Amino acid sequence: MDTDLLEPGSTHVDRERKLHHANARKHGPSPMLNLLVNSLPGIEVRISNVHGLGVFALCDLPAGAFIGHYEGQRFSEAQANRISWDNRLTYLFGLSDGTILDGARGGNATRHLNHACDPNCEAVEERDGSGKIVLRIETMRPIAAGGELSIDYALTVDDEASPADYMCSCGSARCRGTMLAGASSN
Ligand SMILES: C[S@@+](CC[C@H](N)C(=O)[O-])C[C@H]1O[C@@H](n2cnc3c(N)ncnc32)[C@H](O)[C@@H]1O
Ligand SMILES: [Zn+2]
Repeated sequence: MDTDLLEPGSTHVDRERKLHHANARKHGPSPMLNLLVNSLPGIEVRISNVHGLGVFALCDLPAGAFIGHYEGQRFSEAQANRISWDNRLTYLFGLSDGTILDGARGGNATRHLNHACDPNCEAVEERDGSGKIVLRIETMRPIAAGGELSIDYALTVDDEASPADYMCSCGSARCRGTMLAGASSN
């Protein structure tokens, strides 16, 4: 997969394809799981009905709550293009300046956010003290304890990519059937 827009100005890049599902299942429901992947307060990572692992609220969360920054090793676009991402589950998030965060390296629980067509969270770009773009994950509306957190991947992909590779199973009444960007996304 390739580049995809979440919020105006912030892009989510995901280059994994069919191997994603197989790899996600390998995580299994280990009791150690949350210790390993739940690095942020207020949320937990566990098996999702949507896909593999997902992020869930541990308590009622209000609208506008800060969940955490999307962390990961930072690559330039050129560096990312030299890496083969096809053989494993990837956690790539592209920023508006062309850099890419790889949540698989140095990432936190936010890398397990699944896509929803009617999401309850959004990724917002901001600058840190050194001027670097960072991504805040925030709730868009209140989320009850136990609810799954989601963002709209709004993927944009190469022309030759097949929409069948990006089918959505978010289950929302407003599901557009694909994780690709909707007509109103920019
Ligand atoms: C960064 S992973 C999301 C976290 C993942 N569930 C895990 O186990 O870590 C992104 C991948 O999850 C899958 N995914 C996320 N949301 C989905 C949805 N609504 N429908 C189908 N697959 C989804 C897709 O394969 C997507 O490329
Ligand atoms: Zn959907």
